[in-house]
Amino acid sequence: MIENNRFFDFLVSHAKNYGFIFPSSEIYGGINAVYDYGQYGVELKNNIKKYWWKSMTQLHENIIGIDSSILMHSDIWKASGHVNKFNELLIDNKDSKKRYKPDFLIKEYVERKFTKNSKKKKEILFRLSKSLEKKDFLDIKTIIEELNILDPICKTNNWTKIRYFNMMFKIENEKDLYLRPETAQGIFSNFHNVKKSNRMKIPFGIAQIGKSFRNEFFARKFIFRMREFEQMEMQFFILPEEENKWYEYWKKIRLKWHLMLNLGIKKYKLYQHKHLAHYASAGTDIEFNFPFGFKEIEGIHSRKDFDLKNHELFSGKKLRVYETKKNYIPYVIETSLGLDRIFLAILASSLKEEKLENGSVRTVLKIPYCLSPIKAAIFPLVKKKGIPEIAKKIFNDIKINHRLIYDQKESIGKLYRRQDAIGTPLCFTVDYKTIETDTVTVRYRDTMEQKRIHVKEISKIIEQKTGLINILKKLSRFI
Ligand code: GAP
Repeated sequence: MIENNRFFDFLVSHAKNYGFIFPSSEIYGGINAVYDYGQYGVELKNNIKKYWWKSMTQLHENIIGIDSSILMHSDIWKASGHVNKFNELLIDNKDSKKRYKPDFLIKEYVERKFTKNSKKKKEILFRLSKSLEKKDFLDIKTIIEELNILDPICKTNNWTKIRYFNMMFKIENEKDLYLRPETAQGIFSNFHNVKKSNRMKIPFGIAQIGKSFRNEFFARKFIFRMREFEQMEMQFFILPEEENKWYEYWKKIRLKWHLMLNLGIKKYKLYQHKHLAHYASAGTDIEFNFPFGFKEIEGIHSRKDFDLKNHELFSGKKLRVYETKKNYIPYVIETSLGLDRIFLAILASSLKEEKLENGSVRTVLKIPYCLSPIKAAIFPLVKKKGIPEIAKKIFNDIKINHRLIYDQKESIGKLYRRQDAIGTPLCFTVDYKTIETDTVTVRYRDTMEQKRIHVKEISKIIEQKTGLINILKKLSRFI
């Protein structure tokens, strides 16, 4: 059985061996913090997107979706504050040429050197937090020098000055052109187009799924923090006086969305931000208990009129509304979920090793049925007596309705194990009895229970057990 300290490595290798996630450009030695989604990964990702998209746009009649471009006018990033404020504090070591977060270096050092309640440790951390607050980078560097903190790789203290680095990817040879670091700005810049073309009235929302890019100097933990990732964001435009009401509403609805997946209520925590992003006036993270602890999976922010007001200023175009005899710039509540992070949360919560009655161990991915990459597998029990032909006909008849697999490459026991490992909820096996009775066995992934059913029932069972409709119905009760 998987020990806790081995679990994360086990997860990463399972994801690779079974076609969920591959390191990008692996044949050339890979590229830091970039991953590719394989054949089952992309199916799972698409199903998560479908669940989010339908929850947002189909269940809320006042939310519509768009798909804006990754490249945008350079003034967008000036107006949004990303050019000046989307920075990380960094220090370089001149010998190793490696880059570090100075506050992390100090925290890591004191954790290692001092006991939990040490007075000296508390003094250093207090001084660090004051210097961070005052942006006194000189003092932060002095702390590093006084403690003689060495580069973990080359073990020297040959440090540069502490500086801010912008996290946007700049496009070379194109003046001020960037890859977008959030999808939200494509929504703000289309606010007027969407409102006008669809005759929207406040309150209304615009949803979008798409790639974002950040030069994460400290990308790590598999797909948790990447340089190219996907976001599912929704900006909800409201009357300023209704800020609190909608902020609370979206916190509640977004948490419900997660809980519907049944990954376990104890795996979630809400964290109210004390240090806010430059655009936000209030922020709550939905945190998930990943294999490396509770970390942000989704952010819900009140952005007030920060973005629309600045876009008015920079573009010279009016982005205000005139409704109910009021002329105003709407406030915005934003929900922003990282697609790769929810993918990782699902994968990590679903991967299990189970000891069976006969003493053997099975690896099973207990992915929520409605998100599983493959909904059902169809097998022939043996490769004779026309059984494969019957199984293939069943597969061909219903493949148009569901994402299925037909497989006859191994013995039935091995075929079941393979489907368990990729999370397929249902397996249908055609055997000798099928020839006489038009019945097959259905095997359920989680319980391994088997039942005999009529061939005509297969499609209905797949729809009932794996369709998105069940989860959407449950969620719609809260909307
Ligand atoms: N528009 C608001 C915004 O972008 P954020 O908190 O910076 O806010 C929102 O990002 C979500 O995007 C996060 O909660 C996280 O799930 C995901 N995310 C952010 N940076 C990421 C990265 N480097 N890799 C993977 N996901 C990331």
